[in-house]
Amino acid sequence: MARFGILTSGGDCPGLNAVIRGTVLQGEMVHGQEFVGYRGGFRGLVYGDVMPLERSVVRGISQQGGTILGTSRFGPYTEPDGTPDNILAHMRRLDVDAVIAIGGDGTMAAANRLREDGVPIVGVPKTIDNDLVATDYTFGFNTAVEIATEAVDRLRTTGNSHQRCMVLEVMGRHAGWIAMYAGTAGGAHAILIPEQSESLDQVCEWVESVRDRGRSPMVVVAEGFTLPEMGEAYSDRGLDGFNRPRLGGIGEILAPLIEERTGIETRATVLGHIQRGGVPSAWDRVLGTRFGQAVSDLVADEAWGQMVALRGMDIVRVPFADAVGHTKTVPLDHYRGARAIFG
Ligand code: F6P
Repeated sequence: MARFGILTSGGDCPGLNAVIRGTVLQGEMVHGQEFVGYRGGFRGLVYGDVMPLERSVVRGISQQGGTILGTSRFGPYTEPDGTPDNILAHMRRLDVDAVIAIGGDGTMAAANRLREDGVPIVGVPKTIDNDLVATDYTFGFNTAVEIATEAVDRLRTTGNSHQRCMVLEVMGRHAGWIAMYAGTAGGAHAILIPEQSESLDQVCEWVESVRDRGRSPMVVVAEGFTLPEMGEAYSDRGLDGFNRPRLGGIGEILAPLIEERTGIETRATVLGHIQRGGVPSAWDRVLGTRFGQAVSDLVADEAWGQMVALRGMDIVRVPFADAVGHTKTVPLDHYRGARAIFG
């Protein structure tokens, strides 16, 4: 009987457990496959650390956040033990025929290299950031947007009470999908994303026009957004990192600048990992389940070197090579459409 090892790698994401359940159920019930779970992402693969993964283990897990397998940002090639020979030796010892890697861009790039080095492996794309180029949507994004939208709604009421400008920073290192969706859903007065830099003057103009109408301004900013004119000045003041990707911080940098320029009392909230935790939305559970079932079909066909993806309404198969190395950014016409009604 064919036996496969599943791993979850990179930052976690609501819907991972739905993928695991969908894979195991489809595999056992349709294809007669068996599964084990690698603990802690690629670490489990490199060290041959597995846990049993059968129907009884995946019962009722779709509605749970996180991943029952654990995850890490451990890359398969980053340690001396991380060699294809070692990995294949552990797979033979554990009777594992192929690997199913669930992860983001880095995971798919590592999986692509492992495939080139002779490891039978397939993939499932994952990230709350929705920035993977080969799939229309990733699971986890919908949940993150729901949480971020609720944060916008909540910040609005307290902002209105105090007549403050509220700045919400959401995740999105390389792409502003969460900011665009949550900002649009929550009716933000300005949305700031990595794809499009905006000057502080422009941001303050939007904020002031809202204040002049007697409203409390709401700004949603993605963590990867940069203010172009401020790099030099603010690295002098110790706030370096303007011109390189960073994890968090821009909301807390922006808020005092807005307050200083406009005179409007301004508060920043960094949503952080709250948008990645907890119960996945129904939409993410459905997409995760469909991806899981499709990847079981993929390994049944021994279609190594491919990952599943969503195109329109359909689940398709995409070679790793077509899926890595590019970020799916927010199209600028989409942003310009939203920007036309800022302020
Ligand atoms: O999962 C992607 C992401 O959410 C990014 O938007 C964010 O920068 C990063 O993860 C945070 O990762 P970590 O959990 O390592 O802090």
